[in-house]
Amino acid sequence: MTPATANKDGSQEDLPRHLAIIMDGNGRWAKARGQARVQGHRRGVDAARRATTLCGEAGIPYLTLFAFSSENWRRPDEEVRFLTQLLALSLEKELGRLHENGVRLNIIGDPASFGRNLAKTIDRAVEKTSSNTNLTLTIALNYGARQELVTAARLLAESCVAKELTPEAISEADLERVLNTRGLPDPDLLIRTGGEVRLSNFLLWQLAYTELVFTDVLWPDFDETIFWEAIAAYQGRQRRFGQIGEQVESQSGIG
Ligand code: FPP
Repeated sequence: MTPATANKDGSQEDLPRHLAIIMDGNGRWAKARGQARVQGHRRGVDAARRATTLCGEAGIPYLTLFAFSSENWRRPDEEVRFLTQLLALSLEKELGRLHENGVRLNIIGDPASFGRNLAKTIDRAVEKTSSNTNLTLTIALNYGARQELVTAARLLAESCVAKELTPEAISEADLERVLNTRGLPDPDLLIRTGGEVRLSNFLLWQLAYTELVFTDVLWPDFDETIFWEAIAAYQGRQRRFGQIGEQVESQSGIG
């Protein structure tokens, strides 16, 4: 994995610093092949590995994957059990390779609800990779943005009760400090596979100015071509952050 930032053609222009992905379509991928949904999830793990490698090779330093939403508990118990085991096994299997490639693992959401086995595997992986600096791989597990914001509001209210903060002094930076994503830059690019065009309660605060790319490709089919197509779409857009074009052009670093 190369830490230097580079496009496919070797140029260094305008890569996103933080890529977030809503991985969707595992079940449909399997159904289309007459296979059980769990086969789609297995191939989904391969696609997650590809996405991580591609970010590492391009030198994109932050990748965030939405693996399990707080709403996913509504799936059949058997599928939830399978996903829990698959995530634990995949993490155990990939840990050595992630560490060798300088990947730091970070988890957002509430993984405790998945039971002791996955929680222990996660703790071990997070601890082992904590000093790595090439790529921060954040996995959202039992994550929901509204719940994250409610928890943040409670924490700020507690700080006010404890007289550490006053309500009128609360700033965006104060709120960011109590989000699950504290310390991470906001995503520059979000890719959602699987054909749906919505955010599904993912990083609602953090995606405020993010460029969004939706593709019909099902997650297990995510590959280098789709990755670079999404990057090209991102590079073709002008990010304005609420300003008019000329203002943006006159400021360095914002394109
Ligand atoms: C998406 O397809 C499935 C998920 C988001 C569940 C878990 C993801 C994986 C196993 C991929 C690998 C992840 C990691 C972090 C190793 P879906 O079941 O919603 O598909 P459907 O919309 O076609 O039913």
